[in-house]
Amino acid sequence: SGVITLDPGFKNTGSCESAITFLDGEKGILRYRGYSIEELAEKADFLEVVFLLIFGELPNKDELSKFKDDIKAQSEVNLDMKKVIKGFPSTAHPMGMLSSLTSALIAFNPKSVNVDSEEDMYKAIVKILAKFPTLAAWTLRRRNDQPLENRDNNLGYVESFLKMMFQKPGEEYKLNEKLVAALDRLLILHADHEQNCSTSTVRIVGSSQAGLFASISAGVSALWGPLHGGANQAVIEMLEEIKADGGDTSKFIAKAKDKEDPFRLMGFGHRVYKNFDPRAKIIKKAADEVLAELGVEDPILDIAKSLEKAALEDEYFVERKLYPNVDFYSGIIYRAMGIPTEMFTVMFAVGRLPGWIAQWREMRLGKEPIGRPRQVYIGEGLRGFKEIDNR
Ligand code: CMC
Repeated sequence: SGVITLDPGFKNTGSCESAITFLDGEKGILRYRGYSIEELAEKADFLEVVFLLIFGELPNKDELSKFKDDIKAQSEVNLDMKKVIKGFPSTAHPMGMLSSLTSALIAFNPKSVNVDSEEDMYKAIVKILAKFPTLAAWTLRRRNDQPLENRDNNLGYVESFLKMMFQKPGEEYKLNEKLVAALDRLLILHADHEQNCSTSTVRIVGSSQAGLFASISAGVSALWGPLHGGANQAVIEMLEEIKADGGDTSKFIAKAKDKEDPFRLMGFGHRVYKNFDPRAKIIKKAADEVLAELGVEDPILDIAKSLEKAALEDEYFVERKLYPNVDFYSGIIYRAMGIPTEMFTVMFAVGRLPGWIAQWREMRLGKEPIGRPRQVYIGEGLRGFKEIDNR
């Protein structure tokens, strides 16, 4: 009814009220439930942040230990899920496998769909938190043709995820505590980012009451694209291309500025941050630390740094307020950890899972109406049907 306001890309349209994440794009501020991202990245561990995002408060010791136990109790993935993953060719993109596996999980947990009470919601939440990292790790193991193992419940959430990804059959897996800490921090930085593309997708799918797992599966698909979570893979591919081309960053900056050329500087720019991305600041420092810890000298890091410097001095990028975003340096850390490029967006998904869950839960508890945008019709007026011989 009435006049419809057009806002392609929802640049100025608020889709909901939310008490989860505060973001000030001008000042470069990001807070989860009122806590600054800088402080959380330094002091909290990932599961504390998961609890905070979903339930609104930092857990006390008892709450955290119950939460961890509840997750461990649900960590086993149904054996038949292995058949599903084995049906994929080992060349399948891990994000495609992850979204399919998340959907397939519904078949083995049908009670997780209709969750109207908070208690049923909690059960579904714990289930997906427990099984999602296993599915994520399995996408890598499928790629490497390795046996699929369930989570080792003697280890923490992040440790067991690393082990599931990297343990070689018949060998003991040695955890590097510094890497665990670095990954924990990366996951915290990715955990929520208010109404971004994948989160809006999760809320809109969930608004039809399709269920948590179906909503998360849709979120994974939305995250996959190179303009969103897929940017971390695209950044490394771009840096490799620059390196293979001889390392001249100015040539690629010129390409990114050329409006005839579809090329964009991957890992640059953000819909909301117009001064700097606070996550990128923390990640840049972490990248230096992880590379030093591992003794890795990655020529790609040098290219990234010179590209960043050149772009920040260039009028085109300055005028448009284009700065490195969270994805610009995260791939360099994942690479140093030995994670293949195609898996980067899967890592992002594991980090973003709690945000998707928190936003879905807020939407359901708030009894938000079904998401259903309007449009401005610009097609033909009424036409008479043309018989096939006359077309
Ligand atoms: N390289 C070159 N030019 C750019 C870039 C870029 N990376 N980003 C934006 N611009 C230009 C764009 O061409 C436009 O110029 P003009 O005003 O002359 O037409 C202007 O800057 C504004 O860009 P926009 O496309 O209207 O901005 P948006 O808010 O719709 O898009 C974005 C935001 C993140 C999709 C975009 O900056 C982009 O494509 N960046 C590269 C991909 C990327 O790194 N994505 C990760 C985002 S952060 C994490 C996440 O969401 O997962």
